[in-house]
Amino acid sequence: MPPDRTAGDGLSSTGPNLVEERVASVLLSEDEVQARVRELGQAISRDFADSDTLFLVGVLKGAFVFMSDLGREISRAGGPAVRYEFVRASTYGSDVKASGEVTRNVALDGIPEQIEGQDVLLVEDILDQGFTLAHIRKALLNEGKARSVKLCVLLNKVLNAPTPQVARQRACLQLDYQGFTVGDRWVAGYGLDAAEDFRELPYIAVVREEYYVGT
Ligand code: IMP
Ligand code: MG
Repeated sequence: MPPDRTAGDGLSSTGPNLVEERVASVLLSEDEVQARVRELGQAISRDFADSDTLFLVGVLKGAFVFMSDLGREISRAGGPAVRYEFVRASTYGSDVKASGEVTRNVALDGIPEQIEGQDVLLVEDILDQGFTLAHIRKALLNEGKARSVKLCVLLNKVLNAPTPQVARQRACLQLDYQGFTVGDRWVAGYGLDAAEDFRELPYIAVVREEYYVGT
């Protein structure tokens, strides 16, 4: 990350004081994010050229900004018609995660019945320990009866010290599409939050975790 870029660089945001206080640095600028989402849209359009309709299933809340842009980039690239569906997953509550976890309960709301027999692209904001994606993929196949489920994440977090269980879990999750790899820090913006802050930022920032631990 370029150390000279800070959150005070005239970047638009609501709540500028909160950004100045709690954002450490800008990790990915709005232009970088948009350019990469465009590339992903082009790749997905090529790969699904033979499909009439592609079902995007986004994980709420974090994926909603990414997925809305992704659908438009698929359209711009001449790809298949897109259907937007969502599942609601709660993994961490409002907290920044604890380290060294062995497992995490994932609660899932509302598997869309429209996906039965369809090819699905599961769209997620970030892959961290992998509990969320593994759980949802299984549910879309088993309960939702999707024909196939491919994985698309904007950010793939490279973990410093995963537990053996987490390392195994992540090894089972081959990503079909990923935007960027990021380091093992809490990031927010472009749909991702820190205790509900910063989803509205058009860029992705590293958050000062000390403000959020234990919230
Ligand atoms: P996993 O189950 O450990 O892979 O957790 C994935 C979920 O945790 C994502 O869907 C996010 O909602 C959340 N998450 C993990 N890391 C971050 C982060 O750095 N910023 C914001 N949300 C995150
Ligand atoms: Mg999420």
